[in-house]
Amino acid sequence: SLVPFQKMLNEARKYHYAVPAFNVADMETIQAITRAAEMEGSPLIIQLYHADLEFAGADFMTSLARTASEHCTVPVSISLDHGQSYEQAVSCIEQGFTGVMIDLSKNDFYENVEDTKKVVEYAHAKNVSVEAELGTIFDADAPLEIRNSGMTDPEKAIEFVRLTGVDALAVSIGTAHGVYSSTPVIDFERAGQIFRTLPCPAVVHGASCTPDEDILKLCSLGVSKINVGTDLNHAFNRGILRGFKIYGENAAIREYMEEGRNEVIKTARQKIQLFRTYAEQ
Ligand code: 13P
Ligand code: ZN
Ligand code: NA
Repeated sequence: SLVPFQKMLNEARKYHYAVPAFNVADMETIQAITRAAEMEGSPLIIQLYHADLEFAGADFMTSLARTASEHCTVPVSISLDHGQSYEQAVSCIEQGFTGVMIDLSKNDFYENVEDTKKVVEYAHAKNVSVEAELGTIFDADAPLEIRNSGMTDPEKAIEFVRLTGVDALAVSIGTAHGVYSSTPVIDFERAGQIFRTLPCPAVVHGASCTPDEDILKLCSLGVSKINVGTDLNHAFNRGILRGFKIYGENAAIREYMEEGRNEVIKTARQKIQLFRTYAEQ
């Protein structure tokens, strides 16, 4: 069965690894990441970006995630990624999600606090975990000066968590969503201070295309959840394209889907191994 992610993240923080939160959009990618997590013996967060959720339907995704979790011995959670409103978070929870991210980071601090608090109240009453965001995580195709202009203030982050009671906080420390226009420059000092002092586990977004050594350093500094989207999307596309090359126009759906699924399994396993490099026990 599906579980909330709070306990997973607290364990990860304690034992110095990061839980993979993988963005997916269909049955094959859900199967791929749950198989990878099971093979590696790792907890997993199945994540749905709001646009993918609209495409697939929250009810379909919960059914798939629940079925996938029944094939696993490791804990699995399903969560909304970058939720845009209270209503969206509530509708995912009603459909059976065990986690939600509410991203009101564009609003001013106290507006973000007030509206995040409402989501926390509703979610916690239903045993669902909540992630929020403070600071701005930009798109990776923006220039470096823009990307690094909205970094999270460590003191404000502590205050935000105290005021809202969120289970996890996404912070801006130099990673960004998608493919970078130039090499990312991460503020490790800021990241380390946040990871150490935050009252709850910290989340890094935009892990795709970020050099492995940067991700490793963030793991050593104490990040507890890492979001990966684009790298898995690329892996799936690579597999599908290869499948079409092999089987051509008369391909059965399963023939090219299997190529895509296998590529996602490989990439997901590599990420999980990376995130567990400094794990204890
Ligand atoms: P990437 O696509 O860069 O991995 O970012 C994923 C993400 O942060 C989802 O919330
Ligand atoms: Zn993100
Ligand atoms: Na990225």
